[in-house]
Amino acid sequence: MTERQLHIKYLEYFSASKLPSPDRELLESAVSAADGAYARYSLFRVGAAVRMSNGEVVIGSNQENAAYPSGLCAERTALFYASARYPKESVEAIAVVAVDENGVLSELTYPCGACRQVMAEYEMRAGRDIKIIVGSAGAVQVFTGVKSLMPFIFDNLA
Ligand code: THU
Repeated sequence: MTERQLHIKYLEYFSASKLPSPDRELLESAVSAADGAYARYSLFRVGAAVRMSNGEVVIGSNQENAAYPSGLCAERTALFYASARYPKESVEAIAVVAVDENGVLSELTYPCGACRQVMAEYEMRAGRDIKIIVGSAGAVQVFTGVKSLMPFIFDNLA
């Protein structure tokens, strides 16, 4: 038996103003995207913004439904549309934030497992890591590749 360990590296910024400008702008797009959330049931409003390899930014927000599982997270709303709109491009980065009912930034909100799995698929498809930027009022964390958030991912493409 061998005990193995995994180390996860990520960057933490204590002010969004310190991010490289394309990432700061992506985060700002995620904040405005949260305006479009339809979060009638949870009141938890999430915004996401995806930057593609051609520089185009696609936004998404969570869209809920009376039949709860029919709703979709902000990240997948954005990723699916980005891939549908720019099928030949790859996903470079995604920024995610949550805001409260008053539009004030909430604590760091990490993508759920299903959204991580979807990111993993696009990483595998394009053969490149996606930069994942998670923002709050107090801190911004930047992860390189979904493996930093979800190791031992299911991969059936090999
Ligand atoms: N949600 C997202 O949109 N993204 C996340 O990363 C976490 C959760 C949504 C789903 C649901 O509409 C609401 O937040 C509460 O879970």
